[in-house]
Amino acid sequence: NPAEFGITSDYGFLSPELPLEVLPDPYYAEWEMIIGNLQPLLLSRRLQSIVDDLPILSVTHLQTEAEWRRAYVILVFILHGYVWGGNSPTEVPAHPIGSKSRCTDSSLKRVPPQLTVPLFEVCERLELPPVATYAGVCLWNYKPIFSDEPATNLDNLACLQTFTGSLDEQWFYLVSVAIEARGAPSIPVMLRAIKAARTGNSQIVTECLQRLAETIDETNTLLQRMHENCDPYVFYNRIRPYLAGSKNMSDAGLPNGLLYDDGHNPEYRQYGGGSNAQSSLIQFFDIVLGVEHRPTGTSRNDSEQGSEDSIKSRNSFIHDMRSYMPGPHRRFLEHIDSVANIRPFVEARRGDSALCIAYDACLAMLRVLRDKHINIVSRYIILQSRSARQPSQANPGPPAARNLATAAPTDKKKLRGTGGTALIPFLKQARDETGEPAIDAW
Ligand code: HEM
Ligand code: ALA
Repeated sequence: NPAEFGITSDYGFLSPELPLEVLPDPYYAEWEMIIGNLQPLLLSRRLQSIVDDLPILSVTHLQTEAEWRRAYVILVFILHGYVWGGNSPTEVPAHPIGSKSRCTDSSLKRVPPQLTVPLFEVCERLELPPVATYAGVCLWNYKPIFSDEPATNLDNLACLQTFTGSLDEQWFYLVSVAIEARGAPSIPVMLRAIKAARTGNSQIVTECLQRLAETIDETNTLLQRMHENCDPYVFYNRIRPYLAGSKNMSDAGLPNGLLYDDGHNPEYRQYGGGSNAQSSLIQFFDIVLGVEHRPTGTSRNDSEQGSEDSIKSRNSFIHDMRSYMPGPHRRFLEHIDSVANIRPFVEARRGDSALCIAYDACLAMLRVLRDKHINIVSRYIILQSRSARQPSQANPGPPAARNLATAAPTDKKKLRGTGGTALIPFLKQARDETGEPAIDAW
């Protein structure tokens, strides 16, 4: 039962109750003040000193699940603003590790106890890593404009939080929110298909697959709408840098990651940044359809022979991204993994052309999604990185961000996704793997 995992047929992996706009307990007023003024604090370069002057707040005043989620959203937005909204993170901390001195621009690698102490507890509770994830910026970060209209239509959605205050940033997150909502009904549909396959009911499986193909087609239409309101220049130069992680970030000056200082045992940690690869919905599509992803650069033969590469890293990046999903969603995917039976069901019935056509249509739609997505990545990242220039003095954008965006403007090989992948080789392999199990009905 998906409800056990916090998943519903209207909202899917989005929180079924609307995300909280404000923590109700006035104890957290200082957090709310900061998050409510995130853009002016970034613009005036005052965010770091304000955070450094905060008391370390306890999580004991958080009560409902929605409050824990709101705390996570607040803390990760502040954390990424703190780290990427200051000066270049390449500079070495001016003070010894763990010292209580004020965090100056030259100590940006350090995340102070005011953030780490509550964030570690919030993350333990929600089973998330202490970094901005898809859950924080998309799943738990939306509200309907009008409460009497459907909550998750793209034309009735707004974001609670952004780094830049731009419409482009809102749109970037909201397209994903709308996709999650549009895909939600396919979850019970495919659970029904799995049940029907168990009892050998080919007709029901076929109907469910037809509905899934339609749903994926609709999510593709939504994905294409990214171009309407998210400008590639704004995305690449202004928004994306804030979503950076601390893994594979040597080029941006973080060879060891970020120093998470909890006041006792400061340690360097590395996490991937926010990425839609953390969407449980798209992984759900893969899993129910029996699409498998391998580590980038390995083929099916490699894994069968147990080549060195596949031993080194048995799991694909896509699989690893499950550890950036809220605990219940991760467990739901694991559960689906253990019961998925559609692909062998279809393979055993190659003579049933309606069934095979419906199955192949799902794969074709998922492949179209990945093709459209690769086009987006070319336009929003690759092309932008080529035309990246040192921004003008008058209009410099977030300073640390500049460093990341222009880390390797012309060297395609060095470009990384915010999740840490090598972009195009990774995405093309994921697309090609989507086609692999296609069953030829003719
Ligand atoms: C992965 C970029 C929007 C779904 C990725 C990756 C990049 C990327 C670079 C590689 C992983 C990483 O290192 O982060 C973009 C850009 C977008 C965008 C520039 C918009 C401007 C979306 C949207 C969706 C999406 C709206 C929702 C369907 C995915 C998925 C993956 C991924 C599912 C994992 C790879 C796969 O399963 O094929 N994205 N993305 N992306 N993205 Fe996006
Ligand atoms: N994962 C997206 C990127 O790399 C946000 O830009």
